[in-house]
Amino acid sequence: MKVMVVGSGAREHALASCIARSPQVKRLVCAPGNAGTATIAESLPLEVGEADAVRKAAESVGADLVVVGPEAPLVAGAVDACQQAGIPAFGPRKQGALLEGSKVFAKRFMVECGVPTAPFEVFEEADQADAYLRSCSGAVVVKADGLAAGKGAIVTSNTDEALEAVDLIMRKHELGAAGDRVVIEERLRGEEVSYHIVCDGRRYLPMAASQDHKAAFEGDKGPNTGGMGAYSPPPIVTPEMEKTIIEQVVEPTIAGLKKREIDFRGVLYFGLMVVDGVPNVLEFNTRFGDPETQVLVTRWRGDIVDLLMDSARGD
Ligand code: AMP
Ligand code: GLY
Repeated sequence: MKVMVVGSGAREHALASCIARSPQVKRLVCAPGNAGTATIAESLPLEVGEADAVRKAAESVGADLVVVGPEAPLVAGAVDACQQAGIPAFGPRKQGALLEGSKVFAKRFMVECGVPTAPFEVFEEADQADAYLRSCSGAVVVKADGLAAGKGAIVTSNTDEALEAVDLIMRKHELGAAGDRVVIEERLRGEEVSYHIVCDGRRYLPMAASQDHKAAFEGDKGPNTGGMGAYSPPPIVTPEMEKTIIEQVVEPTIAGLKKREIDFRGVLYFGLMVVDGVPNVLEFNTRFGDPETQVLVTRWRGDIVDLLMDSARGD
């Protein structure tokens, strides 16, 4: 079997090393890959954000399976393009990837499904966002609606910081079109957990819970990062907590996808903040976490190609 992994991060290196262990795999290509993947797979230049470029690369490799690592190609429709060309691709189609591609869509979906999440408002005008912030009593998080490579959520401690965040995103357009709309939500304080499930459009398989190290500097004194390391299992996810996550978050989300007739395949990753025993959803990601994947594949004991292929085929 020929497998092409799309992406150039440490996540893709981890996925590729797990895929390379499968006896089914005769050729492994990482597009574009990185110095790490180059030690275990072929590299192929690729502009990952372009759906058609992903399809063409897969065709040139003669790929039997495409595994999409990052969010940008998913949101751009890389899986749709590969599937239309008859190539099984792991990940959601464009419609499903919107759960990560638009915070506004995701938050409204959470409310519809009844999953616990922080109260929020949506703004398209900076002045209206400012007026709202001046009327808020507690701390908030300001989030750009679109993809922003992990820089789209600004956690603030007071009104001045929040006004500055709106200014940065909506007036200075520092995140480009991603900041045309913002979500402003209550800042929650608790412990974060990353919970991944693998879906086939109808059913799901939970993976081990994990947690990443978010804040920079000793003693978590710095700003949030996209995660600088991870561990699994996190002690906070006891069997009871996992049951709560399944009942309050995963099941209602799967039911919501069915109701909207979204054939969601690939990874759905719930970014959770556990507050007083309640797992609140901070975000949906529609891909494997980075660096969570590095610990998940280290713990994985099966042939991961079976899992990825079955999910891609909806079976
Ligand atoms: P997001 O892009 O929505 O995942 O947010 C990125 C990070 O910002 C999360 O992993 C949290 O560390 C933090 N964050 C997001 N929303 C909240 C919130 N409502 N309260 C506190 N921290 C948050
Ligand atoms: N580690 C956070 C993320 O992958 O979004």
